[in-house]
Amino acid sequence: MELPPTISDFERRAAEILPPGPHGYYAGGASDEITLRDNVAAWQRLALRPRVMVDCSERDPSITVLGRRHAHPVIVAPTAFHALATPEGEAATARGAAATDTPFCLSSLSTTGVAELAARAPAARRWFQVYVFKDRAVTEEMVAAAVEHGYEALALTVDLPVFGMRERDMRSGFVVKHATAVPNLAAAGARGSLSLQDVGALIDPCLTWDDVGRFATDSGLPVLVKGVLTPEDARRAVDSGAAGIVVSNHGGRQLDTVLSGADALGPVVDEVGGELDVLVDGGIRRGTDVIKALALGARAVMIGRPVLWGLAVGGEEGVRRVLELLLAELDTALALAGAPRAAELDRSWIQPGPWAVS
Ligand SMILES: Cc1cc2nc3c(=O)[nH]c(=O)nc-3n(C[C@H](O)[C@H](O)[C@H](O)COP(=O)(O)O)c2cc1C
Repeated sequence: MELPPTISDFERRAAEILPPGPHGYYAGGASDEITLRDNVAAWQRLALRPRVMVDCSERDPSITVLGRRHAHPVIVAPTAFHALATPEGEAATARGAAATDTPFCLSSLSTTGVAELAARAPAARRWFQVYVFKDRAVTEEMVAAAVEHGYEALALTVDLPVFGMRERDMRSGFVVKHATAVPNLAAAGARGSLSLQDVGALIDPCLTWDDVGRFATDSGLPVLVKGVLTPEDARRAVDSGAAGIVVSNHGGRQLDTVLSGADALGPVVDEVGGELDVLVDGGIRRGTDVIKALALGARAVMIGRPVLWGLAVGGEEGVRRVLELLLAELDTALALAGAPRAAELDRSWIQPGPWAVS
């Protein structure tokens, strides 16, 4: 299969291939999509300060996250309903990720179950994203399955007490056609076709900081709190026993007009960067975006939509290709920025771009 040559070509191709409902669900954000657009623009506003005359004959993108060595700082973000892109669903995504040594974070709203994914993508390094269902037994069961099947970490998503106002989905009338195709929705008792508001009604809006420690103790796995945007909440995450934070606005899909990941990251790192691992996601589309995130103090980055474009266009191979493109850009950016070791990037590599509007 002939695959597109760049990530933005994957994005365009996916828009042609996917039916309007699923495409709007993947691509869209909340309300006026101001944060959705700013997620991409905020990385672009930062200028790089490259060093020259540095021996870049060998580049080392490896980093350490949650005490474990990773070949590079890219992780596949949890995204729901991969069967909308390909019948193979999350197994194709996880296998494509494994081919590039990229950990894959499975969503609680996946169309492939926790145990099934482990069986169909045994080579993938797997993390599991937790939504806390009102029926706590459903949550306990999926976390237990993640522990049993060798998932390495839990990402507890804290920015979705309810679904954001997704206007593209309202216009397209997007629904999850068969609740039973999503194992955790089926376990929560859902049947038939569901709107996103119906899905949201199954999720517990009463989650508090006390729950973080409970998940860590019960599972024995490191817990990352995903969806923190302020230093105040980052401090609470430390106090509650989190092993890490993902600075994230859920890809601009929840509360519109919140800060981008790029703008929220620095203050969070300043507050808690010495105490736990800070990751970031939202709008990362280029190798240069990855090195800007590391320079601001992130340990690693998560990538959402580009992986879905790869999946829609080329299944497992498409995911692999998108990640290869991003990693090739990262390698080039490390050489051209004069930072052959990714782990050594710091804020001296960036400054506000002169084109940034104040
Ligand atoms: C289609 C889609 C579905 C998502 N589903 C989930 C989910 O189930 N759980 C979750 O924690 N985050 C979910 N997210 C948010 C992503 O994990 C991530 O924060 C975001 O996509 C990063 O931004 P990017 O898409 O610009 O890379 C979803 C994002 C998209 C685009």
